[in-house]
Amino acid sequence: MTIKLVVCIGTRPEAIKMFPVVHALEADGRFNVEVWATAQHRGMLDQVLRVAGITPTVDLDLMRAGQTLTDITTGVIARFGEMLETRQPDRVIVQGDTTTAFAASLAAFYRKIPVGHVEAGLRTGNIHSPWPEEANRKLVAVLADLHFAPTKRAFDALRAESVPADRIHLTGNTVVDAFLSIKARLPQFHEATAEIAQRLPPLGSNQRIILLTSHRRENFAGGMERIATAAARLAMRDDVFIVFPVHPNPHVQDVMNARLAGHPRIALIPPLDYVPFIYLLTRCHLVLTDSGGVQEEAPSIGKPVLVMRDTTERPEGVEAGTAILVGTDTDRIVREASRLLDDEAAYMRMSRAHNPFGDGHAAERIVEHIASAHMAKPSIRAVS
Ligand code: UD1
Ligand code: UDP
Repeated sequence: MTIKLVVCIGTRPEAIKMFPVVHALEADGRFNVEVWATAQHRGMLDQVLRVAGITPTVDLDLMRAGQTLTDITTGVIARFGEMLETRQPDRVIVQGDTTTAFAASLAAFYRKIPVGHVEAGLRTGNIHSPWPEEANRKLVAVLADLHFAPTKRAFDALRAESVPADRIHLTGNTVVDAFLSIKARLPQFHEATAEIAQRLPPLGSNQRIILLTSHRRENFAGGMERIATAAARLAMRDDVFIVFPVHPNPHVQDVMNARLAGHPRIALIPPLDYVPFIYLLTRCHLVLTDSGGVQEEAPSIGKPVLVMRDTTERPEGVEAGTAILVGTDTDRIVREASRLLDDEAAYMRMSRAHNPFGDGHAAERIVEHIASAHMAKPSIRAVS
């Protein structure tokens, strides 16, 4: 019996967090696996798929400049749904909290196709933060029948929402699998590391790199401006150099280009491919970000993270001491970053903390749980 799976991917972080799962499924004879891309993202998705050696069987090519949440949701429900109708897989696997993950889950649910959710159970408890992701992941939890929780806290959050315990599996986060596999291969990726060297000016011996990323929708109303002002203030120090791969969303581009372009100690660069980004993460001193995935990767190599959000669904990092939630208040960002730059002991405390998000074996566990669910219950659709 072969279990016919569709792995759904829409954006850059979904591709990063799903490629270890896809590789593990492909290596396992019990599965017939297809990757279907909604392409909610285009360029940023394609570069990860290239590195991972994945060619989607189906590509809906949905991304449009200025796309709205409605555009993505209706596009995925209609087009992903049509493909499900034709191909009738035994299960759909989605990841995280994007609009792709939610809409693909709904399309599968409407056809009574079971849904497995990778990175299930992250919650802030505030439906508006992150927006719309907190709602997306809660909606996926209602629709899915297999929930892969990265941490004990995520497991408990699902239990608190009455998800049966035997449908939740504690696996770790696949982002750590992805990160470790790329980090181990960094010496082979000469071009990627050379790309970083080309993009940055020669740094003074005293200059430390601050890696900055920002893209959250709830930061569009003023947060982006405050983050930009904080970056400009930090870059007044001659012992730092800020590298900022700017998300292609025009809301981010416009603010950051208007406020930070041309600064001698800030490099505004296009989004980096995954390998050069990981290389840069290994080279930087500290990270300022509102990204989910970056919060989870940085502790694997001891890089302190200042999370520029008011809430986090990843409090494990804060509790483990790898991250500080600083919000988007300019003074607070500058104060906390300056402390880490000036206070060696404070820096080392954060740098030595362990990564609470995973051990690099999440994908293997997920694959075993999917197999068990179908073997134990042949009534779940499976082809002979
Ligand atoms: C989406 C996800 C967010 C995730 C983020 C990861 C939703 C609602 N949001 O937000 O949860 O954290 O991806 O980055 O699902 N664009 C390009 N090229 C690309 C990708 C995006 O040009 O490869 C531009 C396009 O103009 C696009 C815009 O960015 O319209 C916004 O993309 P969208 O996926 O709607 O939102 P993100 O902010 O990327
Ligand atoms: N990333 C990348 N290039 C960049 C910035 C980030 O490859 O220029 C990777 C990063 O390693 C992480 C992921 O993108 O794994 C995070 O994606 P993003 O911040 O867009 O989304 P989120 O994780 O917040 O949903």
